[in-house]
Amino acid sequence: MSANDTQHSGEGALNQILDEHEGLLALLDALDEYLRRDAPQSQLQTAFAKLTDAIGAHFQSEETLMAENDYAYLPAHRQEHAAILQDLQQVLVSSQNAASRTHFNVIKRKLMIHLQGKDRSLLQDMGGAEAAID
Ligand SMILES: [Fe+2]
Ligand SMILES: [Fe+2]
Repeated sequence: MSANDTQHSGEGALNQILDEHEGLLALLDALDEYLRRDAPQSQLQTAFAKLTDAIGAHFQSEETLMAENDYAYLPAHRQEHAAILQDLQQVLVSSQNAASRTHFNVIKRKLMIHLQGKDRSLLQDMGGAEAAID
């Protein structure tokens, strides 16, 4: 089996999702630390942009993997991704681009609800119950 075959199998897809989730959690932690240290607004905005870009890229890659694996709940999952991205955009606009603790809390809450809901179901469907346990 080639590396490419593995990537498209359930196990490869599962590992990719888990890796990307870890990456998102690391970016959340980094941003949390910047806010705690009262970092300059420019630094905060860069970290927020990095996080929202990573969330968008992850949602895209997750949707591609779900499509490749003929995942039955793809439409509902995709809808939730789109709603989260729209919410994040609204938060950004309403905060007039100021990076704040409130902004961070909204992003974190929405992301964690998704990871523990639809993503947990996806991981369980792809890799068994133990794969989704944090
Ligand atoms: Fe997802
Ligand atoms: Fe995800």
